[in-house]
Amino acid sequence: MRTLLVIGIGAGDPDQMTIQAIKALNRAEVVFIPAKQGKDGLAALRREICRRFMTRESWREVNYPVPKRAEPDPSYRQSVDDWHAAIGATWEKLLEDELDENGCAALLVWGDPSLYDSTLRIVGHLARRGRIAFDYEVFPGITSIQALAAKHRIALNTIGGPVHVTTGRRLTEKFPADADSVVVMLDGVQAFRGLPPENVDIYWGANLGTDSESAIAGPLGEKADAISQARATARDKAGWVMDTYLLRKRLPDGD
Ligand SMILES: C[S@@+](CC[C@H](N)C(=O)[O-])C[C@H]1O[C@@H](n2cnc3c(N)ncnc32)[C@H](O)[C@@H]1O
Repeated sequence: MRTLLVIGIGAGDPDQMTIQAIKALNRAEVVFIPAKQGKDGLAALRREICRRFMTRESWREVNYPVPKRAEPDPSYRQSVDDWHAAIGATWEKLLEDELDENGCAALLVWGDPSLYDSTLRIVGHLARRGRIAFDYEVFPGITSIQALAAKHRIALNTIGGPVHVTTGRRLTEKFPADADSVVVMLDGVQAFRGLPPENVDIYWGANLGTDSESAIAGPLGEKADAISQARATARDKAGWVMDTYLLRKRLPDGD
């Protein structure tokens, strides 16, 4: 049976590879590396990880073009489903063409595959469909949220409190109800700028773990402009920007 290893590689710093991930990587005879237009830096990190941690004698890198998502979205859900189907078809073909019946391949997933990543949804679908018989295993990675918390030396939650994780798209004009700690990812529009800033602190980080890393923390109202500026600088430096932030309601007891 073919095997596909889905390996979390951390959020930008190759040193975030776990020993378990390195061992898994070395089981793969083929590593599938996505070539996304305008995202060469992300492919470069995957190559750097292979260069540093692959110790097996022979292995191959296979690059594949990532299908583009339809624009404009007819409906968000429909365009995502279509996009995932196209990616799935690409991976199915790679499994068929690049592996023999007992071959083993790896997909390197940014951060951890459980967090805002479609790989497991797509791979699960392909495995259930069974057009190509294969088994798959998952290896966790350090998420960008963990990298953010470590950078700022903070815990995500207040004592005994919940943590709400969401996207910039969903962060509306007000703080999510009943939450005092909100982690925001996938925010292309700087949604924090639309929030009432009173009594909210922000812990922000972009391109964490990379040469273009930037991190800023403080009262939202005071730091919003500096964050926008730093975000633009990180993008100029790297050619891409990914940022994550924690919004924390300032509590009367100061926790
Ligand atoms: C498609 S999601 C992937 C998340 C990933 N699976 C994880 O575990 O962190 C991409 C989002 O992750 C966050 N992200 C990923 N890498 C980051 C980094 N190095 N620094 C800051 N945020 C990052 C950003 O919010 C970005 O928009």
